[in-house]
Amino acid sequence: MLKLPGLIDPHVHLREPGATHKEDWDTGTSAALAGGFTMVLAMPNTQPPIFDSETFNIALTAAKQKARCDYAQYLGAGPDNAEIAASLADRAAALKMYLDMTFGELRLDDMTLWLPHFEKYPKAYPIVVHAESRSMTAAILFSAIYDRHIHIAHISLKEEILLIKAAKEKGIKVTCEVCPHHLFLTATESPSPILGEGLGVRAESPSPTRAERSTSEVEAGRGARGEGRLEVRPRLATQKDVDALWENLDVIDCFATDHAPHTLQEKDSENPPPGFPGLETLLPLLLTAMHEKRLTIDDIIQKSVINPRKIFNLPDQPETWIEVDENAEYEIKAAEQFTRCGWTPFEGWKVKGRVRRVVLRGREAYRDGKILVEPGYGRNVRV
Ligand code: DOR
Ligand code: ZN
Repeated sequence: MLKLPGLIDPHVHLREPGATHKEDWDTGTSAALAGGFTMVLAMPNTQPPIFDSETFNIALTAAKQKARCDYAQYLGAGPDNAEIAASLADRAAALKMYLDMTFGELRLDDMTLWLPHFEKYPKAYPIVVHAESRSMTAAILFSAIYDRHIHIAHISLKEEILLIKAAKEKGIKVTCEVCPHHLFLTATESPSPILGEGLGVRAESPSPTRAERSTSEVEAGRGARGEGRLEVRPRLATQKDVDALWENLDVIDCFATDHAPHTLQEKDSENPPPGFPGLETLLPLLLTAMHEKRLTIDDIIQKSVINPRKIFNLPDQPETWIEVDENAEYEIKAAEQFTRCGWTPFEGWKVKGRVRRVVLRGREAYRDGKILVEPGYGRNVRV
């Protein structure tokens, strides 16, 4: 049995308020515990989005009643909330800026709207950007000009990791995270048995790479049953991109799930929303990679505990650890998960490494498939 510190996920979507049929603070934090996470940072692209005191309090009230693991809530950067967001900063996980196409209403196309946030948000916390490719480059330039830390969410491309490496070498205050789906899947692999014969195998007619897909195709939805399950932002990339991420693992500061649950019915609809659940699959996937000698246990601890704690200025969790049977082999099954969304892109994958027990602040919170703490046990780490 391997004993590890409780993992921290800096990037989850818990869907409450507004879309609790996909997930809520109870099911999402139960999934977190089952996956070995004792702390999650919740994204603000809910309905309504979290961008002022009123909406912030709506999210925190739900969290206080229902969360089973520890947490903090992000604020979203909107077109005119820089001052109010800055005033709430000490109570928030960090500020999230959506600079590219994604799910939800929070998006800042116009760079003049970025300025007040870079000027006003306290430098004690990072600004987390959803920024891909060229907008990521612009965000790094903002970081250099304003001399403030930005954390780049879910990087997926070779050009991104190489530029971040170069920016770090220049002393620019930039950190980044990568998600398992960008480390283990490519655009030409089927994440569901519907498309291919199994998992991780090539579909008969490969999906176009993201460069080949047109925006209108994406906006119109991909339609055919099963294909919506490939939709995620940033999109799955090419093998060359995946290889570049693995080759530059030392440049990656954090692992994050970007747990983005949508129901199977929604994923298989005419207009599939982008996003994959991930809380219950990150650790087994990484432990499997560890057995394959692609990374070490120290990489996991560094990028899933130590670095997120440092980057987001998060407190220690006393008497908190997880116990993992590193040699348990099993198949990933959505039916065994706590997330409400009812599917996983890794269905049927054979993995090695299972979370057996989670102790959170002195209490046994999870053991062998059972959640043992009640809704409301989770604490807001920014109080
Ligand atoms: O695939 C995604 N889903 N990417 C995002 O940026 C948002 C997320 C969601 O909230 O569903
Ligand atoms: Zn996200």
